[in-house]
Amino acid sequence: MPELQRLHAGHAPAVLAFERANRAYFAASVSDRGDDFFDRFADRYDALLAEQEAGVCAFHVLVAEDGSVLGRFNLVGIEDRTAELGYRVAQHVAGRGVATSTVRELCRLAAHRYGLRTLRAAAAHRNVASRRVLVKAGFVPVGPADPARLGGKPGTWYRRDLMNDRPSGTSTGQAPDRPAPGS
Ligand SMILES: CC(C)(COP(=O)(O)OP(=O)(O)OC[C@H]1O[C@@H](n2cnc3c(N)ncnc32)[C@H](O)[C@@H]1OP(=O)(O)O)[C@@H](O)C(=O)NCCC(=O)NCCS
Repeated sequence: MPELQRLHAGHAPAVLAFERANRAYFAASVSDRGDDFFDRFADRYDALLAEQEAGVCAFHVLVAEDGSVLGRFNLVGIEDRTAELGYRVAQHVAGRGVATSTVRELCRLAAHRYGLRTLRAAAAHRNVASRRVLVKAGFVPVGPADPARLGGKPGTWYRRDLMNDRPSGTSTGQAPDRPAPGS
């Protein structure tokens, strides 16, 4: 069964294979990462791990039994117990509910492991699949998103309250299971 894992150095080859195999598929919905991302992948990957180590971001990969990456699910800009959610799922498993179920799982993780209270996500109007994923995972639209954030496309910000996902006894705002940076 696929497992959602916090990103670590050992995932690098599988993440690169995932990004390469699905580059055209992703670029049809979101901005392409650009040649530089692939040409300087090792440097970029190290930079991501450094950001994660600093506690600004928390990156996750959905790993299949054979070790391949089926999806990436990220929390970025962590501040004041809120973060922005981003995700992408491999074309060969599209339309099977992978994104929906994993975003739901990440919401629970965001509350329990990282002690977050809210998540936000921006989706272009034309990205119907992404908007469906957000709505099915409990996000609600809260206002227009700057097209500059969405490759020039108009879109919407969505928000999800995580208070009901938090373990009981943490309503005072104490992070229940916050890992030390880099754990
Ligand atoms: C968006 C994305 C993550 C969805 O992944 P997925 O695993 O295929 O999503 P799910 O199977 O969980 O759910 C997709 C939902 O969108 C619907 N959907 C998919 N494509 C659609 C389309 N072109 N038009 C309308 N609905 C569509 C599906 O029917 C499903 O809804 P349903 O359960 O009500 O039928 C994936 O397409 C992707 O990685 N896209 C490129 C990156 C991206 O857009 N990321 C989001 C940035 S905001």
